[in-house]
Amino acid sequence: MSEHPFLGGPRDWWRQAVVYQMYPRSFADANADGIGDLRGIIAKVDYLASLSIDAVWLSPFYPSELADGGYDVADYRDVDPRIGTLAEFDELVEKLHARQIRLFVDIVPNHSSDQHVWFQEALKSPPGSRERARYIFRDGRGANGELPPSDLSSHFGPEGWTRTPDGQWYMHLFTKEQPDFDWSNREVHDEFLKTLKFWSDRGVDGFRIDVAHALVKQLEPLPTRSSYSLDVMKDDGTDSLFDRDEVHEIYKEWRQLFNQYDPPRVAVAEAWVHPHRRPAYATTDGLGQAFNFDLLTSAWDAEAFQSVIDANLDFANQTGSSTTWVMSNHDVIRHATRLVIPSDLGGVTFDAENHWYVNHRLDGDLDLEKGLARAKAATLLMLALPGSSYLYQGEELGLPDVTDIPSDQMQDPQWFRGEGKFKSRDGCRVPLPWKATGSSFGFGDGGSHLPQPTWYSKFAVEVQDGNPGSTLELYRAALALRKRLISGESLSWRSSESGTLWFEREGGWSCFTNFTDHQVSLPQGEVLLTTTEISGSKVPANSTVWLRLP
Ligand code: GLC
Ligand code: CA
Repeated sequence: MSEHPFLGGPRDWWRQAVVYQMYPRSFADANADGIGDLRGIIAKVDYLASLSIDAVWLSPFYPSELADGGYDVADYRDVDPRIGTLAEFDELVEKLHARQIRLFVDIVPNHSSDQHVWFQEALKSPPGSRERARYIFRDGRGANGELPPSDLSSHFGPEGWTRTPDGQWYMHLFTKEQPDFDWSNREVHDEFLKTLKFWSDRGVDGFRIDVAHALVKQLEPLPTRSSYSLDVMKDDGTDSLFDRDEVHEIYKEWRQLFNQYDPPRVAVAEAWVHPHRRPAYATTDGLGQAFNFDLLTSAWDAEAFQSVIDANLDFANQTGSSTTWVMSNHDVIRHATRLVIPSDLGGVTFDAENHWYVNHRLDGDLDLEKGLARAKAATLLMLALPGSSYLYQGEELGLPDVTDIPSDQMQDPQWFRGEGKFKSRDGCRVPLPWKATGSSFGFGDGGSHLPQPTWYSKFAVEVQDGNPGSTLELYRAALALRKRLISGESLSWRSSESGTLWFEREGGWSCFTNFTDHQVSLPQGEVLLTTTEISGSKVPANSTVWLRLP
């Protein structure tokens, strides 16, 4: 692979990288079965290159019964036949690398699918067997073991234990099709090291680690839990289910493997932990980087953004890692919609967002034009920050979330098991519109596995491509410019009027955001890029401008 232009040379390529997350089933469908596939992605490598991204992260593409959108993995070292083959995977790696695009894959180590060979063996084996010891099987309570071993709910509904035909129960923090591994078992460690080596040997550059904070659990006494809100999670490394100090021993072992490669393989933790506990996942002897999801729960407000930025740059300094930024992913309401959910109806916290979704998603009264303006302004701000940015497929088109999918066409277990309390995540997983017309807007010739709304046509790649005012061209311009502008990792704030933020980066450029609904004065400097057209010396409402300083 040739030299990478980012600071520090190739070993540090990830520090300020832009990573584009792909939900493979919804990106592009080459064989017209309604499901996105590797061939579809391969056909779009030019498109990816046109975005000047540094890496692609593929959400799970492994064999799966899709109880949780692929996060129920039946075989960690293969490709789902509906998505492609290992040979196609190798071809994708090669084609991406040829365009200087690196590849992350998703590793789901907390739980497998119930279709995984290990779980199937466990079901066939007796209580106390070696096969059962890879998962968390226990006898039930009550006279005949008819009550679950402990009072444990799951993320997706009331039961965290499910009974097997022979009477024992197994633990699952997510759906019952996602049994949790027992990470006190050495065999589980070895199995995942084998998987990480398998993909690293195939040229994978990085790993996104799913629920990285849950692997190690205290099982005596058995854990109990009725809510998965962060408020009830202990913040000192002794919680029975999450973020236990011992989890880092696992990642140290992984790091030793990663460092056997040149450049070393990288990893980013999905760890929903108390913010001050996040740096531990990002140490150089651990995973190296951790997601910072704070912007997903920040109001569209200058002070809120500033405190999130300061806190996370500080965390990054504590570990020597770089910070990460995320505005959208496959689990949240797309930011072009989220940023105009009124805070009295929802918005900001996940609880409030769920509330809005459950009660107001069909009202159809959000100001989506403002949502798009805010989304573009937020993205341009994010892309000006030190650290790496994770983009989610379709945000470069300015797609709003599809919030009105009829319930009988939804797929997300969070919706079906959530007892009417949780949003469906399907709205951000609807297949992308590539063309303005056609049965699935160019996603493929065979329809789309989630329904696309008619308004998708106006967001199609074809419509935006080459159109200077489009969101797609704004992303392209911003990402290309970012590559040229970014050097060091420091940021210094400049004072600006209330409701705005202005910061400077090394090399004499700066980023100014107007969070308000009215225009404000444009700071001095040459305008390099702007999310809304500027006339005269005013920055329109809900806009970001990149400026070269005088
Ligand atoms: C992570 C994934 C989410 C999945 C869950 C269980 O949070 O992002 O999509 O449902 O883990 O694997
Ligand atoms: Ca397909």
